[in-house]
Amino acid sequence: LATKEVSIAGIEPGQAVKVVWQGKPVFIRRLTEREITATEEEPTSILKDTDSRNPDKPGAADFDTRVTGPESGAKDFVVVLGVCTHLGCIPLGTEQGETKGDYGGWFCPCHGSHYDPFGRIIKGPAPENLPVPPLQFVSDTTIRLG
Ligand code: FES
Repeated sequence: LATKEVSIAGIEPGQAVKVVWQGKPVFIRRLTEREITATEEEPTSILKDTDSRNPDKPGAADFDTRVTGPESGAKDFVVVLGVCTHLGCIPLGTEQGETKGDYGGWFCPCHGSHYDPFGRIIKGPAPENLPVPPLQFVSDTTIRLG
């Protein structure tokens, strides 16, 4: 896999950015404390897909398998492929002012799929959570994709 290094130095809690890796959009979101707390308190019964969709952290789609962060820092980043798991549209919610859907994460306008801030599908026709790409932190402020 071709790798790409991305600086996350300027991403504040509540912000998200989109980068392109291997021709596909990748969303990088830094969660707020409130988003983390609210999502942790949600019953897992609302999840349509209970798989982490993270090859590095297989298991349930809970907090630990969907967030990441530098070795020594807070684990408050969500990094997902920005391709709707229904038919492949690019969900909204990363650019400033875009709708984030009913669950505060991403919204796919093509057929109405709503993802939470962890990229998990909650409502709509998409069958799976947004997948987590292979990645690692190479420093406190840099992610390597691939
Ligand atoms: Fe996203 Fe259909 S492609 S809801």
